[in-house]
Amino acid sequence: MVKMKELRHDLPHSHYMDSPLFLDTHFSQITDSQWENLFQFAKDKAIFQKRENLFTGKKINLSENRPALHTALRNISRKPIYVNNVDVMPMIEDVWRQIDSSCNQFVGVTDIIHIGIGGSDFGPRLVCDALNNLNHSKKNHTRVHFLSNVDSADLASILEKTESESTRIIIVSKAFTTVETLLNAKAVMAWLDSKGIKPSQVSKMIYAITANPKLAMHFGVLEENIFPFWDWVGGRFSVWSAVGLPIALKFGFDTYMEFLAGAQAMDQHFLHSPDVTNQPLRLALALYHQQKTLNVKSQAIIPYAQSLNLFPHWLQQLEMESNGKTAGIDGNAVPFSSPVIFGIPGTNAQHSFFQMLHQGPEIIPVDFIAVHESMSDLFHHQNQHQQLWANCLAQSEAFAMGQGDPSNLNHYYSGKRPNNLIVLPRLDAFHVGALMALYEHRTFCLGLLYGLNSFDQPGVELGKKLAIPIEEALRSDSKDVSNLHPVTAQRIQWFKNPNF
Ligand code: F6P
Repeated sequence: MVKMKELRHDLPHSHYMDSPLFLDTHFSQITDSQWENLFQFAKDKAIFQKRENLFTGKKINLSENRPALHTALRNISRKPIYVNNVDVMPMIEDVWRQIDSSCNQFVGVTDIIHIGIGGSDFGPRLVCDALNNLNHSKKNHTRVHFLSNVDSADLASILEKTESESTRIIIVSKAFTTVETLLNAKAVMAWLDSKGIKPSQVSKMIYAITANPKLAMHFGVLEENIFPFWDWVGGRFSVWSAVGLPIALKFGFDTYMEFLAGAQAMDQHFLHSPDVTNQPLRLALALYHQQKTLNVKSQAIIPYAQSLNLFPHWLQQLEMESNGKTAGIDGNAVPFSSPVIFGIPGTNAQHSFFQMLHQGPEIIPVDFIAVHESMSDLFHHQNQHQQLWANCLAQSEAFAMGQGDPSNLNHYYSGKRPNNLIVLPRLDAFHVGALMALYEHRTFCLGLLYGLNSFDQPGVELGKKLAIPIEEALRSDSKDVSNLHPVTAQRIQWFKNPNF
């Protein structure tokens, strides 16, 4: 059994060897001897040696032959880290300076449209949303809009509330080839044009954050408006790079650095904490064990904090794009891989799918994420916060302990439904950073337990490839569709001549 750690309120932002977060795995439905076996299993998988490779820039992304060095981006202690014998910290620091100075340059800007998708969207969107709901003293009045979906309704709803003259556009794409992002960027440029803004002026309003500056310049972004990052940063791990720029622009550079500091505190914990108290490892082992012994296929992530509404969305990409695979490192099929990750905030979740989680035949483990300090200063906020906590603790107990008699099945709660409790002392940039890093490292550990490469995503390519001739066929009347699948060809015909 893990010893309960006291909640701490006085966290130093660096040299912090213990975790900034609280984790309670009492209800994980794992016995002491099972935990011992699990820690032994982690040793057999050499997880701690491989953890070293993650932090020191070894080429752990084997299929793409490159490191996965997102931890360097939050290495605020600036200790040198080498990729191909070159210390990457000076270039990371250059980007920090670029972000810092753009916070001053953006004064007077009313709207920022951040255009990106997947890893170029979820992270900064989550952090801005989480901090925006707080009574944040450093928050300025700039409106930050996130545009990801190629559905024009997404763009339309943003443009409706945007002042064209004083807008800045940030195109965020690691590859700078992502169709949705480039199409949205062109649409926004066309909108600026339609507002009578001259092309020479438009080019000064456009910025790019990318690992492919050449393509960004080719697209028309001025070299001085490009914030670089590097191919050794995975898209879904990129919020710590300049991809997180809107966090700095909206909440100040210090807040952005606090966000990085929180993640680095979690990195230090992951690096130095022994297996028994190592939070990312414990979370990974618990889920792996539940998949193996309880045939678990999905996991619910329930933040008891409305401000963390987008956390499950961000985690869906992180976990499922990283570990939702069949092929193992050795090319053979793996026995387990990522479960389905889903979730919405509590208490709303209780009035939605918790029925199934309490009484459905399938076991769905839950991670409860709660915040110790109340998240507003409204009149009566303490009452509401206590109610929120009471619900969180009650649900956790109900899943674990159950109640009733199986002879009366309709009113029977089986219990033994695994769940963890994770607590942030307060909701701020530091602890949101720590929380995201906690789950990044869980994903990394899970990938090692499953025996697969967490850092590529070949499964997303087929759909992108198929979309090219389909889009051509939708656009042109003369396009020969005989090379398309007959069902798809028929659907295209129907799209052109619908009969409702
Ligand atoms: O969905 C595939 C993917 O490559 C993700 O991994 C990535 O986060 C997203 O597309 C966006 O990619 P980019 O930042 O290169 O535009």
